[in-house]
Amino acid sequence: EQIYVGVDLGGTAIKVGICNQSGQLIQTYEGPTETEKGVDVVIGNIEKYVRHIVDQSPYSWDQLAGVGAGVAGFTNVREGIIIFAPNVGFRDVPIRAILEEKIGKPIKIDNDANVAALGEAWSGAGRGVDNCVCYTLGTGVGGGIIINGKIYQGFSGLAGELGHISVVPDLEAIQCGCGKMGCLETVSSATGIIRMAKDAVERGDRTSLALETKIAAKEVFDAAKAGDEVALRIVKRAAFYLGKAMAAVAATLNPEVFIVGGGVSKAGDILFNEVREVFAKLTPEPLQKGVSIIPAQLGNDAGVVGAAGLLLRS
Ligand code: BGC
Ligand code: NA
Ligand code: ZN
Repeated sequence: EQIYVGVDLGGTAIKVGICNQSGQLIQTYEGPTETEKGVDVVIGNIEKYVRHIVDQSPYSWDQLAGVGAGVAGFTNVREGIIIFAPNVGFRDVPIRAILEEKIGKPIKIDNDANVAALGEAWSGAGRGVDNCVCYTLGTGVGGGIIINGKIYQGFSGLAGELGHISVVPDLEAIQCGCGKMGCLETVSSATGIIRMAKDAVERGDRTSLALETKIAAKEVFDAAKAGDEVALRIVKRAAFYLGKAMAAVAATLNPEVFIVGGGVSKAGDILFNEVREVFAKLTPEPLQKGVSIIPAQLGNDAGVVGAAGLLLRS
């Protein structure tokens, strides 16, 4: 039996997992990224955790067919280079070649959200669906496009950067981490929600939200659910632009399912109902028919499962 190890490389933690041929997650392990120690240490940590999890498992190193990794940032998949991953502190790092050398097994890399989309398509909310689009709403907004069961890569392997579609009108737009104005990420990420909450408090809006504690996105959802109008307005704004972005994607790709994951998706119905309503309002009837907008199923595991899936499904 062959096994596949998936790596989820994030800013604070590196998660690794062993999957079997059918996308079942057998074992996971997590260790610190140690971003502050630089690229060499981070890549050394990946190798260390991969060797550790295989050592601890009932499988032998010989059974390891390869390692896939998802990275939070612009990733040139064909060349195996991380172009820019601000949260991990990587710029132009040829990670595939380095890992191949260290680990001595086939290595595949891809963007974190592409990989999460593949995981959901393989064994999560998109199982059995040929065409789906996945959003991850976390620190940033990630996207992944699955067409005919495979990640769509585009010209230079950067397709699916759905968080950087500009949706907010000029007068209300703020600058995104990518340098451009009005990206979906500025309003529908956890970071965007927290910023809008802080702005409201500072403006003196009547709200139960307070600045004494560091506001987290979850507090905004809880306040909204408890009837706080200001918090509800913020959640609706995040949902509005997501629904609007999905309408554009529906007209471009006609996916069967939109999957929404990441911390912000835990807001649940107050988010999803609004997204669905906006989507219905902005999308031509034929493009809505049979299309659903649903929560992700694999939660935090989507990254490692999808990363392992890179070896089998890309
Ligand atoms: C990055 C994407 C990433 C997403 C989620 C965005 O800011 O541009 O590459 O997938 O954050 O981590
Ligand atoms: Na992506
Ligand atoms: Zn952007």
